[in-house]
Amino acid sequence: MSTGMPRTVCWAESAAGPVVRLIDQTLLPGELVLKDCCELEEVCEAIRVLRVRGAPAIGCAAALGVALAVHRSAAQTTADLLAVVEDASQELATTRPTAVNLFWALERMQQVAEGSGTLSPDEFCVALLREAQHIVADDVARCHRIGHYGAELIPDNADILTHCNAGALATAGYGTALGVIRAAHEQGKQIHVWVDETRPLLQGARLTAWELQREGIPYTLICDSAAASLMQRGRVDCVVIGADRIAGNGDVANKIGTYSVAVAAARHQVPFYVAAPFSTVDFDLACGDEIPIEERYPEEVAYVANRLTEPICPAPVNIYNPAFDVTPAELITGIITEAGVAYQPLASSLSELDSETSSSSSGSSS
Ligand code: MRU
Repeated sequence: MSTGMPRTVCWAESAAGPVVRLIDQTLLPGELVLKDCCELEEVCEAIRVLRVRGAPAIGCAAALGVALAVHRSAAQTTADLLAVVEDASQELATTRPTAVNLFWALERMQQVAEGSGTLSPDEFCVALLREAQHIVADDVARCHRIGHYGAELIPDNADILTHCNAGALATAGYGTALGVIRAAHEQGKQIHVWVDETRPLLQGARLTAWELQREGIPYTLICDSAAASLMQRGRVDCVVIGADRIAGNGDVANKIGTYSVAVAAARHQVPFYVAAPFSTVDFDLACGDEIPIEERYPEEVAYVANRLTEPICPAPVNIYNPAFDVTPAELITGIITEAGVAYQPLASSLSELDSETSSSSSGSSS
């Protein structure tokens, strides 16, 4: 996490009792405001409207949301608390469909709940909170390891292009793609980042630029449509992006526009790296066609940055607003994980790395 930056999402004790505290990312870069969610519904709303966003951060918020539901519940028995966990998980699972970290975190909370059925209600609450906090702390640790492996791939004096925000704001801290960039910068490499603005919600312009500015990492903001031309002119040495869900064959769902970047990178022989923890890999899906792609509100396209001032198009207008796209595995040079870098063929390389981490980690599942 960058110096002086509050945690993206965490558990806190407020005057009103326990809360899930998060940076309200809809207000950045103008204002840095912390929002306290006192009830599960507020956590769900925060995920739906992208106050908290980015695959790993959504997973952390969901885990903390389950803990909050349990702590705020009036249930008197452990059996009733188990039902609270189930209901909370069902509610949270409806918030956003694409980032698998959400479902991964809910599954972990469910498993701990089921294994805690013989505990007293108080002990049950403690166990659930401990697991949620473990998921959060573990995410930061995974990002640091991703940064460590990824920085080795970044040459000195590199111009790196990134899309969307896969930084501290998209994780519990440090970031995945921005974790790689941070680590390279911390190693003293002279790097410069091309930041795609990332229409329609401008996560690149609003959030990635904000993070890089705070870190003092040199960057230049570009329109998404400028990326291919920069590559054509030899001004991009590599692309590093995050992911919302990676299928078993290595196909990657990430923010809309990522696929165009990958196609341009392949055309110009620019290495294209994806940085993501194993909590983003969905081995249950054979390929990217099976990844559910979220479609969001037309207003996000009709208004710049969703600010309800003047629409940028005539009304009425037909708008299609998919939030993510899928980049086929064949366009990806490597996937940087917390266990090392998976290279082609990605399917076997990912499973090998996954089995290495699963066998070497005791107690924490990938
Ligand atoms: O819609 P968002 O802002 O949640 O989308 C986020 C992204 O697409 C990120 O690139 C991805 O989650 C990786 S975050 C480490």
